[in-house]
Amino acid sequence: MKVERIGVVGAGQMGHGIALVAAEAGFNVVLRDIKKEYVDKGLSRMEKFLDRSIEKGKLTAEEKKEILDRVEGTTKLEDLKDVDLVIEAIFENVEAKKELFKELDRICEKETVFASNTSTIPITDLASATDRPELFIGMHFMNPVPLMKLVEVIRGLRTSDETAELIKELAVKMGKTPVEVNDGPGFVSNRLLMPMINEAIYCLMEGVGSAEAIDNVMKLGMNHPMGPLELADLIGLDVVLNIMNVLYEGFNDSKYRPCPLLKKMVQAGYLGRKTRKGFYEYRRE
Ligand SMILES: NC(=O)c1ccc[n+]([C@@H]2O[C@H](COP(=O)([O-])OP(=O)(O)OC[C@H]3O[C@@H](n4cnc5c(N)ncnc54)[C@H](O)[C@@H]3O)[C@@H](O)[C@H]2O)c1
Repeated sequence: MKVERIGVVGAGQMGHGIALVAAEAGFNVVLRDIKKEYVDKGLSRMEKFLDRSIEKGKLTAEEKKEILDRVEGTTKLEDLKDVDLVIEAIFENVEAKKELFKELDRICEKETVFASNTSTIPITDLASATDRPELFIGMHFMNPVPLMKLVEVIRGLRTSDETAELIKELAVKMGKTPVEVNDGPGFVSNRLLMPMINEAIYCLMEGVGSAEAIDNVMKLGMNHPMGPLELADLIGLDVVLNIMNVLYEGFNDSKYRPCPLLKKMVQAGYLGRKTRKGFYEYRRE
């Protein structure tokens, strides 16, 4: 198993970051989204990040050009036919992801490894849409990709040892630290993070503390860089609710029930930073 060319599907928040760290690590990248404007937006976000690195003196203009030259944008899925690895980063929707992997299974060589950046969808389930479950794995980058060290590497029930080793080596080449876990609702990252955020929302709803008090306890007392409510606003309250529902349904356990205040905020359209109002108010997204 050798990886030289990487296909990244989805040029959004995560996809453009994954394409960037892959190109910075020297891989040739094909970045695919459904519309040209989304591909272009992904490419320009990559360029802006590299420009900031130049301003900080971490990169030269020549290096920036070399990195961007390694990335080819496309709207055609067929352009991924000769990549060695596909990293999928499209919407968090199980049907859409399975449909995409089914197509990729047909288009790509039978040795091509498939990785999903899903936050919550069982890897074993996604792998079942393909005829290569041994070559299928979760590669869960954190947001923002260029800055966060962790890659949670999730083995599906049928993922081979070779695939897991390959993905861990690749993560290291991309400057990340891989942590291997097994498949399960929310994996490890969201299984721990989301119930903490949900509990913070219960504390707020029950009047145990103000939003500021709750966040300050966790920042000053537990050394968390952000409080749970600030973090929920950053992630998006709709995303938090969706993940809590995945945990609740995945385990059929009432300990994961989403807080009623979280549901109410989402119904009201208060989704956090992206709507300028969540547990706090924001002037800008
Ligand atoms: N945002 C985060 O904090 C975060 C963190 C870790 C993992 N994730 C996961 O990463 C994935 C992507 O999330 P995001 O925040 O980047 O979403 P996003 O909405 O920013 O980007 C998704 C992109 O995928 C594109 N897309 C949809 N269907 C496509 C298809 N069939 N082919 C190609 N492109 C397609 C969309 O046009 C969009 O540009 C999700 O599975 C999410 O759960 C997100």
